[in-house]
Amino acid sequence: MTIILDGKKTAAELRARLAQQVADFEAARRIRPCLAAVLIGDDPASHVYVKNKQTACQSAGIASRLVRLAVDVTQTELMREIDNLNADPLVHGILVQLPLPRHLNTQEILDAVDPHKDVDCFHPENVGRLVQERPRFLPCTPHGVLQILRAYQLKTAGKHVVVVGRSEIVGKPMAALLVQKHGPLGPDYSNATVTICHSRSADLTQVLRQADMVIAAVGQPQMIRGEQLRPGAIVIDVGINRTDNGLVGDVDFASCQQIAAAITPVPGGIGPLTVAMLLENTLRAAQLQTADYMTEK
Ligand code: GUN
Repeated sequence: MTIILDGKKTAAELRARLAQQVADFEAARRIRPCLAAVLIGDDPASHVYVKNKQTACQSAGIASRLVRLAVDVTQTELMREIDNLNADPLVHGILVQLPLPRHLNTQEILDAVDPHKDVDCFHPENVGRLVQERPRFLPCTPHGVLQILRAYQLKTAGKHVVVVGRSEIVGKPMAALLVQKHGPLGPDYSNATVTICHSRSADLTQVLRQADMVIAAVGQPQMIRGEQLRPGAIVIDVGINRTDNGLVGDVDFASCQQIAAAITPVPGGIGPLTVAMLLENTLRAAQLQTADYMTEK
């Protein structure tokens, strides 16, 4: 029997726990954690994502602020908005919704976010800290993957995990977490043997067949098929692709479900966990910005 890994349920449990932590923090410090989202242009998907994040904030007792900017905003104007948010003591976390319009320099914008408010964990200082196993924030989607694995006790230690995709947002930080010796969720949920595959990998199928676990994060609708898997593999689908047939993952669910021991659906798999981990980072940011509440290693 293939286990369908229920991201909605796992995320709801984590959010309930987080809401209590937020309430405790606010009671102790009289500070309500606040996430500012910067949304540029009219991309419908980005609007939906930001709306979901704001609703989730509300449900956890986290304040949220929306900075909406026109699609033709200049780099200078956007940099000024980031500076304002960096300087605002009532804002603890800053999220710049990606992708940005093509005329903007994404790297420069992300680098401008105060690393103490960088709840996406995109700033080079935070990426460096993550790789050195002394994280300030954990990247939301990779952290969400580890959370669902732990919720179902699917351990990664000693396992061969194949990460398909090398993005800064999922593939690379996912691999960085999986190879760690201690790991933020403990050694059972790190210590993997990790292979990263990408568009220039010579024989993806041959690598996938050796995987105890496949984590798909390529942005190619239904690219990974059941025939490519080793029977009993665990399949984590990070993809969210909008097609004429609705939302689909990077994994062909129907064929993979036949072969896998456990699989995440799309929607209702990793997506809800990403949002829950963003909330956790916002609380952490507020704690870090509150003198003597928490110290960094
Ligand atoms: N666009 C799609 N996913 C994400 C995310 O996790 N963070 C940000 N900032 N933008 C995104």
